[in-house]
Amino acid sequence: MNEGNIFSRLDIKRILFIFIIVGISVCRTSLTQAATIQNNCVNCHQGLQENLALYAQQWADSVHAVFSVCCEDCHGGDPNSPYRPEIGKNDYIGVPVKRKIPYFCDRCHANPRYMKKYNIRVDMENQYKDSIHGQRLLKEGNMDVADCVNCHGSHDIKITDDLKSRVNHFFIAGTCAKCHADNKLMRPYGVPTDQLVQYKKSYHGQILYQKIKKKNPRFVPSCPGCHGIHGGKPSGVARVADACYNCHLMTKRYFQESVHGFVLNENQPPRCIDCHGYHNIPLADEEMFVGQDDFHCGACHSLDSKEYQTGQTIRTLLIQARAAAKKSQGKISRVKKDLDIDISGFDQKMSDVFDYLSEAKSAIHSQDIQTVQEIVKKINKYTRSLNQQVDGRYREMRQRKKWLVQMLLYISFLFFFIAYQRSKLNK
Ligand code: HEC
Ligand code: HEC
Ligand code: HEC
Ligand code: HEC
Ligand code: HEC
Ligand code: HEC
Ligand code: HEC
Ligand code: HEC
Ligand code: HEC
Repeated sequence: MNEGNIFSRLDIKRILFIFIIVGISVCRTSLTQAATIQNNCVNCHQGLQENLALYAQQWADSVHAVFSVCCEDCHGGDPNSPYRPEIGKNDYIGVPVKRKIPYFCDRCHANPRYMKKYNIRVDMENQYKDSIHGQRLLKEGNMDVADCVNCHGSHDIKITDDLKSRVNHFFIAGTCAKCHADNKLMRPYGVPTDQLVQYKKSYHGQILYQKIKKKNPRFVPSCPGCHGIHGGKPSGVARVADACYNCHLMTKRYFQESVHGFVLNENQPPRCIDCHGYHNIPLADEEMFVGQDDFHCGACHSLDSKEYQTGQTIRTLLIQARAAAKKSQGKISRVKKDLDIDISGFDQKMSDVFDYLSEAKSAIHSQDIQTVQEIVKKINKYTRSLNQQVDGRYREMRQRKKWLVQMLLYISFLFFFIAYQRSKLNK
């Protein structure tokens, strides 16, 4: 083999590699130099003392820097001038006061023509004006409520999906709670401060913070899921208490056909939140039908009323359906464990059963015995036939196993018999 040849080939590769790396870094330094030379705001501010340079450094890592929205685009002033700008000259506005911040940001963000090429929402101006925060700030000059910067930051703004963004799905509750869990700030308004604590305990919150596994945390609401992003409520519903409708569609359908739903139209309880609560929504179960605690049927209907009794009948139906599903699943597990065979067909059928069960749980919101009964009947029929199939399969496989053992015994008997006869013949 010619080793020299191999080495020279390697050398060419290495030289090429070094050449490319050097090329890239030369380009990069000249590019950054071009950027710093062009913009004196950035240039001078990045060279200031540590804490004064902070804004310029934060900005360099922000979404605005990525899209070349520079100091002068927000603050005004001439970026080509080497001197510190003066208020009023070259449209330099300095630091905006709190009351002006929404207009400061909305110049670009609520301008559909400017924002067209970026494909992000431009409805924050009207929505924010509608929210409690917007009304208090813009009409009354209240300095405690949230403006754009309180929720988004000023120089360290990231795109929403970035895990460092303050308004990211996983962190926004903490951003709201900076004010909403602050007793001193909230006392004058008489607004409670327990929302985040409650939310963390709720079924939604436990999924978001991944205390409950195997559920997608992106689908549960954080604060804006029920309160809206910039406005006072989420889009598509008339009020915050109806936010549930946006996600729990099947429940909504049954509920709106019910007497409870009908009453709702006249703005009386019960709404979803009168039975489930809102910040601390626990997992729903059939205990809710029993007794007079808050949120239970007996809280509004006396224990001997027709309504309460209807509830008990519906509860019994639901318990039956759950028991039927549990029984079938038990049978399937037994087949899996005892016989160790492929039963994916049964697993598929079981998942159908759980879909029916889910529908039955939604259907209880009709408060109509017949509606629930119909679905429970379906579950009973379906599980009965499934049980028969599973039992049949179980018996069949057991029978086959028995046969197999008998055959083996027979064959080994035959083998020993022949061996015995042969040894006799040999002798
Ligand atoms: C020659 C250096 C220099 C240049 C160029 C410069 N600044 Fe500054 N800027 C400063 C210093 C120093 C401060 C005072 C820092 C402090 O006390 O917080 C300051 C303060 C500010 C402030 C705070 C409000 C104020 O006016 O005190 C803003 C906003 C600001 N600069 C924006 C800009 C913008 C936008 C540009 C470009 C159009 C720019 N600066 C150009 C040095 C400079
Ligand atoms: C997206 C708009 C935006 C951009 C871009 C931007 N700023 Fe600001 N800046 C703000 C806002 C809003 C405030 C007021 C923050 C507040 O009220 O908390 C502010 C405040 C400041 C302050 C004063 C901070 C204080 O509280 O004294 C300085 C200094 C400053 N900016 C410098 C800069 C420099 C330098 C750049 C460019 C590197 C820059 N800003 C880019 C929006 C911006
Ligand atoms: C009470 C907190 C809050 C306030 C005040 C607020 N925002 Fe937001 N903003 C959010 C949240 C939360 C999201 C992210 C929603 C999501 O997950 O898509 C968001 C998203 C955005 C987005 C990204 C839009 C998109 O389509 O991805 C922009 C731009 C924005 N806000 C600008 C503003 C401006 C401008 C203001 C002031 C007029 C403002 N926001 C006031 C909480 C706030
Ligand atoms: C000079 C115009 C301009 C101003 C003023 C401005 N922005 Fe932006 N902003 C942009 C552009 C351009 C983008 C990049 C769009 C994108 O993310 O695709 C952006 C992006 C954003 C995003 C990220 C959106 C996303 O993709 O998730 C947020 C949040 C945001 N800006 C908030 C603010 C806030 C808060 C202010 C006021 C302090 C402000 N902006 C002021 C032009 C501006
Ligand atoms: C900068 C502090 C601050 C931040 C951040 C903030 N808020 Fe507020 N919010 C307030 C204050 C102060 C009030 C009280 C206004 C009043 O009642 O007059 C308020 C009022 C409210 C109200 C109305 C309460 C009522 O009386 O019915 C809701 C709902 C609300 N905020 C939700 C949110 C949500 C959701 C977020 C996060 C997306 C958030 N807030 C972020 C300060 C803040
Ligand atoms: C599942 C929906 C939902 C979620 C999630 C949610 N809220 Fe609420 N919130 C409500 C409803 C419903 C009300 C009552 C409004 C009414 O009756 O008009 C409310 C009321 C409030 C109020 C008024 C005072 C009070 O406690 O009654 C504040 C402030 C508030 N929420 C903040 C938050 C914050 C902060 C978060 C996130 C930690 C949050 N909410 C999450 C649905 C929700
Ligand atoms: C952004 C969508 C969304 C909103 C808004 C929402 N939820 Fe949910 N909710 C979910 C998701 C997702 C789950 C988890 C479902 C699962 O277990 O797979 C859930 C779970 C629940 C559960 C527990 C389900 C169970 O099996 O026991 C209840 C009860 C509930 N939500 C009630 C409400 C009420 C009441 C509201 C309105 C105040 C509401 N939700 C608003 C998405 C939402
Ligand atoms: C009259 C009281 C009451 C009202 C009003 C009510 N629910 Fe329920 N909800 C219940 C009870 C009781 C259960 C428990 C059923 C069980 O045993 O699983 C339940 C179960 C649920 C579940 C879990 C089962 C499922 O469907 O996946 C969700 C989600 C739910 N409700 C959401 C809502 C929503 C959304 C509304 C408003 C449209 C609402 N509920 C209105 C009493 C109520
Ligand atoms: C927050 C109060 C409240 C709670 C909790 C509540 N209900 Fe009701 N319910 C009402 C109201 C109001 C009506 C309207 C009819 C009326 O005038 O009694 C009603 C009507 C009914 C009806 C219809 C009776 C008819 O005329 O056909 C039934 C059935 C019923 N409820 C069952 C239940 C069950 C089951 C639960 C528990 C899961 C429950 N309710 C929980 C307030 C409540």
